[in-house]
Amino acid sequence: MTKPFVDLRSDTLTQPTPEMRQAMFEAVVGDDGYGEDPTVTKLEALFASVVGKEAAIFVPSGVMANQMAMRVHTRPGDVVIAGRSQHVVGFEMGASAANAAVQFNFVDDSEGVFNLDEVATLLDAQFDHQPTINLISFENSHMASGGRTWAPEQISALKKVAGKLPMHLDGARLFNAAVARGVSAKEFTTHADTVMACLSKGLCAPVGSLLAGSTELMERARIERKRLGGAMRQAGFLAAAGIVALESMVERLADDHARAKVLAEAFAKKFPESNYDPRICETNIVSFNHPQARLLVSKLEELGVAGGTVAPQRARFVTSALVDDASIDQALSAIQSLQI
Ligand SMILES: Cc1ncc(COP(=O)(O)O)c(C=O)c1O
Repeated sequence: MTKPFVDLRSDTLTQPTPEMRQAMFEAVVGDDGYGEDPTVTKLEALFASVVGKEAAIFVPSGVMANQMAMRVHTRPGDVVIAGRSQHVVGFEMGASAANAAVQFNFVDDSEGVFNLDEVATLLDAQFDHQPTINLISFENSHMASGGRTWAPEQISALKKVAGKLPMHLDGARLFNAAVARGVSAKEFTTHADTVMACLSKGLCAPVGSLLAGSTELMERARIERKRLGGAMRQAGFLAAAGIVALESMVERLADDHARAKVLAEAFAKKFPESNYDPRICETNIVSFNHPQARLLVSKLEELGVAGGTVAPQRARFVTSALVDDASIDQALSAIQSLQI
């Protein structure tokens, strides 16, 4: 019998659970464009309370939530400080330029967190005829660095440097960060004026993300959602799965993290030339540099284990509910037998 394919390409490939499917079937829905979908309203209130904000908005995707944040915090021509490899910079097809007409000033984020001196220098440059900086965007967990997390104290330190400047948190995997750090999601969001989180990744909901912030910001963000074409109608069918995701899928992320760690150790051992330290694998993403990353990924795929690359010479493998202990054993044998 051929072994099943082990899918480590992304946690976005997860499937809704039986409980989610049941909740979707039974959902009470209305026209959310009119604000009349009780299930969407319930999900939005739940998320707002989980992240300690006044209000939240349900949106189809994480990219849309990030884009709404860009549009409420900035005006065309403004500058956003962000990590060089953040999703909003490198993985949204230039959306921030197209939708909000902003430009980025980058800081190094190869370890996920920022060097605060670099941020301070960029802010200082505004006094030297350089454009107005109106937002700092940061990511927790930080995908491209291999799912690394910011500690709450590191976010407080960033806020100190930012002063009154608004901060947006791309928390596509906010709950992975919370589980890894053993803190509640709120601990990461106190200093964020807006925070987004995805339901459709490790939490296994089929569709959807949320943006949260003050009532005033969310009123404006709701208009931006409409402008981007993201106002949905009987979206309660999707929100119902999202409620299950928030209420019952967070703790299990620890299993994904434990499995990622096993993979991280195996890759580190197999490819010493990568200088990959498996101790940096804190959540569900294993990502490391390798001179032949694309070849490595394609050879591993021939052995029944799918992964991907996120930059030239950078491989990425993601654990999720699709990957059980047997899949990890299978991946380990494939890694060991890999010839490259
Ligand atoms: C860090 C980060 N932000 C935002 C997104 C965008 O989410 P979506 O695919 O729902 O648009 C992703 C998706 O992978 C992500 O990894």
